[in-house]
Amino acid sequence: MCGIVGYVGTKSAQEVVVDGLRRLEYRGYDSAGVALVADGAIASAKKAGKLANLENELAALPLPASGTGIGHTRWATHGAPNDINAHPHVSRSGRVALVHNGIIENFAALRTELEADGLTMTSETDTEVVAQLLGREVDGGADIAEALRTVCRRLEGAFTIVAVDAQAPGRVVAARRNSPLVVGLGEGENFLGSDVAAFISHTREAVELGQDQMVEITADDWQVTDFDGNPATTKRYHVDWDLSAAQKDGFDWFMRKEIHEQPRALADTLLGRYAEDGSLTLDEIRIAVSELRSIQRIVIIGCGTAHYAGMVAKYAIEHWTRIPCEVELASEFRYRDPIVGPQTLVVAISQSGETADTLMAIRYAQEQGSKVLAICNTNGSTIPRESNAVIYTHAGPEIGVASTKGFLTQVLACYLLGLYLAQVKNTKFGDEIAAVMSELESMPDKVQQVLDAQQQVLGLAAEFSDNPSVLFLGRHAGYPVALEGALKLKELAYIHAEGFAAGELKHGPIAVIDQDLPVFVVVPPRGRDMLHDKTVSNIQEIRARGARTIVLAEADDQTVAPYADVLIGLPKVSTLLQPLVATVPLQIFACELATVKGHDVDQPRNLAKSVTVE
Ligand code: G6P
Repeated sequence: MCGIVGYVGTKSAQEVVVDGLRRLEYRGYDSAGVALVADGAIASAKKAGKLANLENELAALPLPASGTGIGHTRWATHGAPNDINAHPHVSRSGRVALVHNGIIENFAALRTELEADGLTMTSETDTEVVAQLLGREVDGGADIAEALRTVCRRLEGAFTIVAVDAQAPGRVVAARRNSPLVVGLGEGENFLGSDVAAFISHTREAVELGQDQMVEITADDWQVTDFDGNPATTKRYHVDWDLSAAQKDGFDWFMRKEIHEQPRALADTLLGRYAEDGSLTLDEIRIAVSELRSIQRIVIIGCGTAHYAGMVAKYAIEHWTRIPCEVELASEFRYRDPIVGPQTLVVAISQSGETADTLMAIRYAQEQGSKVLAICNTNGSTIPRESNAVIYTHAGPEIGVASTKGFLTQVLACYLLGLYLAQVKNTKFGDEIAAVMSELESMPDKVQQVLDAQQQVLGLAAEFSDNPSVLFLGRHAGYPVALEGALKLKELAYIHAEGFAAGELKHGPIAVIDQDLPVFVVVPPRGRDMLHDKTVSNIQEIRARGARTIVLAEADDQTVAPYADVLIGLPKVSTLLQPLVATVPLQIFACELATVKGHDVDQPRNLAKSVTVE
């Protein structure tokens, strides 16, 4: 939510910053802006709408040359997405410019204080209050770094702030609390970004900033302190992907590219999971085996697609470990006074590692004495840093706002966790675990088979482009697949879509079924006959009421073919692993339907990829 860039060096700051914003635009696209320090003054430009609007403005009215700059791409919280509310915000004297991601919760009180001091706000944002506070400190003689520390100590809420002072060329200062910020280390230049995508075309050396830390960069140096000015410890790391991973590679959308990357993402997430003796090993798990053995309960938390990944995983984890496993929306978790403690393992799933609801939930769980294990795709992000253990999904950067390879690799990482716990708790024999691992290793090929057969799904999207509503049904692990299919369609095609447990059909949803409603049904593999047969009965009930049925089932499942208007054939897999193949056609369908409707697939309206405010 909001992308932030800072730069000091010898290159054109405007170019570096705008280039960084382009790569961060998936974080928010309500407006964009840039501010530079040039000739003892702040030069800035900002525009409502996508980054292209700002680029047009800069092409017409270029800013002066400068090697010091900041930039912002906004997802609006306080104030409408217009030019005035766009960042950067500049202090009254014009000396300080800053950009902000997050929400300043005490902004009303601070605004009242500033207004009493004779300052009139020009925007509706909470951010401008911080710009004016910072300006007041600097105008009063404080150094920009000291001024930012002073202001941060007064702020409540979530913030990443990046600021420049017209009288301090060659310096950019930044601070963070509950909101992301990383430092990029170059040769004779340094960078700041909401994530490493901001500077990946310049450097792959990065530094994580911790909670309540502040950084000052110059071209040749970087210093990190806490908000009192004490030197702080930081972690430096090398980014294991490069610019090519953050480009579209000839696809029309990042999302389509990411759907096609799923076989590779699954294979990479499976790499290096065996110890020399052939047992399963998860190197990043820093929780003692004795502690894992004492786990009596697992609570999985996440938001959006990550939450559905948890719902899929629950079936496998409970089956393999016999540990009761609950799945909960991270946004609900801490507000209901949940019963968690030392014998509960909380598993936090987050592609970005920055989702505010999930972050707050893990802090709450840790306060209650629970150990937290993160499943995350983003090295250096806050959630894995604050967790007791982490399993990284090696999906590479996910740029399309709607998660695809993130989801599949999250499900896979949960399976690895389930198998590891089964090994530790001896609830499965070694050869049983090895058999599941062997099936998991076949999944990249099976997902590739689904991708190779996508033409049928692409055709369906054109056919259904005028349908106002679509229903998705599934049973068992197919139920969260139905939910995910519906979510993808809402996110991308902006149409009403709902997912239901197929067994619930007769308890309500059947009332909406008529000949105009397409119904997707995920049919479990035939190995579990009861589940399979009951789902086939559901399809007959739907057909009897005239609806069109689009059935996802094993390709040679003759029992279902007579009742399917369209049969989307899936490779043979076991019931628990079927979500890894069954989700893919639904991703393709949503991506294509949105394309047919002329929507921006990578940047759907009102959404942001990384939701860093609660
Ligand atoms: C946003 C995105 C979703 C994503 C969710 C959780 O809502 O639009 O695609 O599933 O956040 O994100 P996370 O980074 O925590 O997995």
